[in-house]
Amino acid sequence: MSQPQIFRTVADMRAAVALWRGQGDKIALIPTMGALHAGHLSLVKFARENGFVRAIVTIFVNPTQFAANEDFGAYPRTFAADVDKLASIGVDGCFAPPPEEMYPPGFCTKVAPGGPALAGLEDRFRPDHFAGVAQVVAKLLNQAQADAACFGEKDFQQLAVIRRMARDLDIPTQIFGVPTMREADGLAMSSRNVYLSAEERRQAVLLSQVLQETAKAMRAGEDIPGLCAAAAQKIGAGGFALDYFEARHAESLAPVAALADGPIRLLVAARLGRTRLIDNLAV
Ligand code: PAJ
Repeated sequence: MSQPQIFRTVADMRAAVALWRGQGDKIALIPTMGALHAGHLSLVKFARENGFVRAIVTIFVNPTQFAANEDFGAYPRTFAADVDKLASIGVDGCFAPPPEEMYPPGFCTKVAPGGPALAGLEDRFRPDHFAGVAQVVAKLLNQAQADAACFGEKDFQQLAVIRRMARDLDIPTQIFGVPTMREADGLAMSSRNVYLSAEERRQAVLLSQVLQETAKAMRAGEDIPGLCAAAAQKIGAGGFALDYFEARHAESLAPVAALADGPIRLLVAARLGRTRLIDNLAV
């Protein structure tokens, strides 16, 4: 069990990347906000299985992607446990910059993502979120200059925003999307699941259940708007406050009316008490 090298500065991370590249190793970057779980670690495994022998996991709770009323202050910060998890799977490096390394005095450049960032899903409820995500991910990709970067399908709209941004800004890092890791009962793993009470944790399984049964009925040809309305009703009846349940084109995230408009992805966001959960599934 080897400890990952901890990088606090861009310069230190770049020096390691240059060294590994000089040895002929391919390098993958895995951006995270920490509070690591098996879903995050699956991104590292995916990178390895795809020939990236060196992995750098970044841990930075990025203030610019949280609105004033969101959970930036409360977001779980578990750095020592995170480093142990990275060591247990032999991650090479961990970039954990202090805020001033990312946003030094005078920092003022914004990234304004369009297209999938304005699809009317998460952006309707978190209007400045993807500008913050695009800003920090653009920085991380440029800082590391890795060969690849891995992101989870769990945050499906985020993945689409990042793919689009990397293409539009000619960032040469290859972007990979990795399937969602789930708990045994189907709940998508998330750092925010720790906010759920025992009772809420039992209720939370409903989201993935409704996604699965709706996808199945949609594949069988049932009416799409009717299925989405029924899904919304079930989730509301299960104690959630629903933000959206939508069927969208899996690449453009444009609304779809029929199976032939696909490939279709179902996307849901709903609040259970003070916890906001998101999930999605291919039809
Ligand atoms: P975070 O929520 O920590 O997630 C880091 C990465 O892990 C993202 O790519 C996310 O999609 C992926 N991930 C989370 N849960 C997963 C699961 N159950 N299965 C597979 N992958 C999962 O997403 C962010 O951080 C931030 O917005 C970030 C991209 C780091 C920018 O700050």
